[in-house]
Amino acid sequence: MSQTPCPIVVLISGNGSNLQALMDHSDEGAYSVCAVISNKADAFGLQRASKAGIPTRVIDHRDYADRLSFDQRLIEEIDSFSPKLVVLAGFMRILSPEFVQHFAGKILNIHPSLLPAYRGTHTHERVLEAGEKEHGVSVHFVTEELDGGPVVLQATVPVNSDDTAITLAERVFKQEHRIYPKAVAWFAAGRLRMNEKAVEFDGKRLGVSGIREIGA
Ligand code: GRF
Repeated sequence: MSQTPCPIVVLISGNGSNLQALMDHSDEGAYSVCAVISNKADAFGLQRASKAGIPTRVIDHRDYADRLSFDQRLIEEIDSFSPKLVVLAGFMRILSPEFVQHFAGKILNIHPSLLPAYRGTHTHERVLEAGEKEHGVSVHFVTEELDGGPVVLQATVPVNSDDTAITLAERVFKQEHRIYPKAVAWFAAGRLRMNEKAVEFDGKRLGVSGIREIGA
């Protein structure tokens, strides 16, 4: 681990439970959350950040004529904090190629499915409808392809016969809050790299599932 904690900027749109997990683990010293930016003024995560004494910003996408001008403003604000990593934690905006290229190899996202399965929204409902026995969560690098960037770390959870989307989401969230701080700390320690749209962990190229852990 480097001496100074790696500065990260977290982007949110809502509750911010993953942001909370990231802030809770930041005292381990690998990274520090230098700012939280939301596209929604009422995102509860902003209150979580303020409570922790972390600077917050709201950039409302509705104030911009198009995706690119919003993204350019976002880039400018993120850059003003000079982070080494941008962490998407429930940020409900599709990012332009310009944004992704600006921070190439320096954006992580968390997605509630075992990617490449179940990209997009409503993953828990779709997993139940399909009768899957296993579900989970993935941390991945962000590329221009939505939910399509190379996977760093996954945690699996069982799907029980009496599960609802709510009980399944709770089980998955527990794993989200466990693996996201872990993956960010790996990046901070220089152990993770995106190379040619694949992930290298400690210099070794990972497969499509990244590192897969049995969650619960
Ligand atoms: C999580 O399910 C995460 O996987 C997805 O958006 C949700 C954010 O939840 N990308 P929270 O705001 O962190 O509670």
